[in-house]
Amino acid sequence: MKVSIVGSGYVGSVTAACFAELGHEVICIDIDEKKVQMINDGFPPIWEEGLGELMKKHAEKNLIATSDYDYAIQNTDVSFICVGTPSNEHGNIDLSIVGAACKSLGMAMAKKNGFHIVVVKSTVVPQTTEEIVLRLLEEHSGKVAGKDFGVAMNPEFLREGKAVYDFMHPDKIVVGSIDERTGALVAELYRDLDCEVTKTTPSTAEMIKYVNNSFLATKISFSNEVGNICKRLGIDTYEVMNAVGADFRISEYFLNSGAGFGGSCFPKDVRALIGKAKEIDYYPSLLESVIEVNELQPLQMLELLEKHAGDVKGKKVAVLGLAFKNETDDIRESRSIPVIRKLLELGADVTAYDPMATDNMKVLIENIRYCDSPAEALKGAIACLIMTEWDQFRELDSEFAGMKNKLVIDGRKMIDPEKLEEDIVYEGLCW
Ligand code: UDX
Repeated sequence: MKVSIVGSGYVGSVTAACFAELGHEVICIDIDEKKVQMINDGFPPIWEEGLGELMKKHAEKNLIATSDYDYAIQNTDVSFICVGTPSNEHGNIDLSIVGAACKSLGMAMAKKNGFHIVVVKSTVVPQTTEEIVLRLLEEHSGKVAGKDFGVAMNPEFLREGKAVYDFMHPDKIVVGSIDERTGALVAELYRDLDCEVTKTTPSTAEMIKYVNNSFLATKISFSNEVGNICKRLGIDTYEVMNAVGADFRISEYFLNSGAGFGGSCFPKDVRALIGKAKEIDYYPSLLESVIEVNELQPLQMLELLEKHAGDVKGKKVAVLGLAFKNETDDIRESRSIPVIRKLLELGADVTAYDPMATDNMKVLIENIRYCDSPAEALKGAIACLIMTEWDQFRELDSEFAGMKNKLVIDGRKMIDPEKLEEDIVYEGLCW
């Protein structure tokens, strides 16, 4: 099939490259000429495992990029909207970029003869596709949805770092469409993947995405709350959750307690669902608690620090891990951010190390010392706070020797305290 993808960010580039890999003819549309050039040269505009290989393989064959909507719409049958949906200052979803994409798509569709389908892949709150996207497309194209063009919502469930793998090996594909004809055509795009397509309405598809992420976030906050109780009772949470997760109805995944969840999806999506619920006069107390536990969790690291080290004013404290999770340079909503900000407020002299995310954090927080190795960050420190689950932190050993006061507060259960030298004080955040 012939597909155009609006937006060449994280979701758009992965979707474009993977559809090309599935044998479709793909045109990426982006207003950023630099991204257009990169894709046409075979380079991905973002880093994602396996994406570079796919872009190189398909560039200038069945994957091209343009900033010309008219050309892309004339030459494709289906357009995916893969633009960003950031939060506004109230935590609600900001649809201005989606709105701009609809306007450009609608104007291009006005000049096209024949049926065209627009699919929303961007994460949008329930009812957006039918009440906003569909109407904007009708307004700008002068055409009628269901008759002249189809509209669908097809959420993605891609993990950062594993997005290409997740696209090619989905455990669900959800297509919510305004009519059967559109749903069947969109489902056809995924024919070669070994996964059934769940066909539903656009609002249900939108809701599935939010509930999926909110449920995973709830599992984490639930595990963190259990961890906080276990810690005070002297019980190892990980032992508890390992046994609990053996129940197939619960599953073993996303039960790791620690400093909480970050990233571009979980905090934003839970907040957006809360905002939508309130808009329709429902107070979502459980979802509010999921966010509350997540915000308090990193601050508990500082309570443990105070318990052992007292006042940290003028003292050197090392933060290991800046990325929101391992294997990424993404710091969005990273739990290390509130921790560093609080340390600075307390007057600590902060050193930090991360194998990938240092450059990004430098832009956000300037007045700390960024180091090239854990040993350099730890030298002369009175405490070390582990914030990200980087594998290399599991091997830390001799690096602690340079600390002035050997206190390790572990926010991700990276260290086995049994293996540490006797003079090191170890505190797990909630185990
Ligand atoms: C997530 C979803 O997994 C994905 O399906 C969705 O499309 C986008 O959001 P991602 O943000 O890449 O993907 O991160 P993920 O690997 O799911 O981890 C999210 C956060 O939860 C990280 O900060 C991680 O440290 C934390 N986490 C994860 C825990 O604290 N405990 C766990 O058990 C699992």
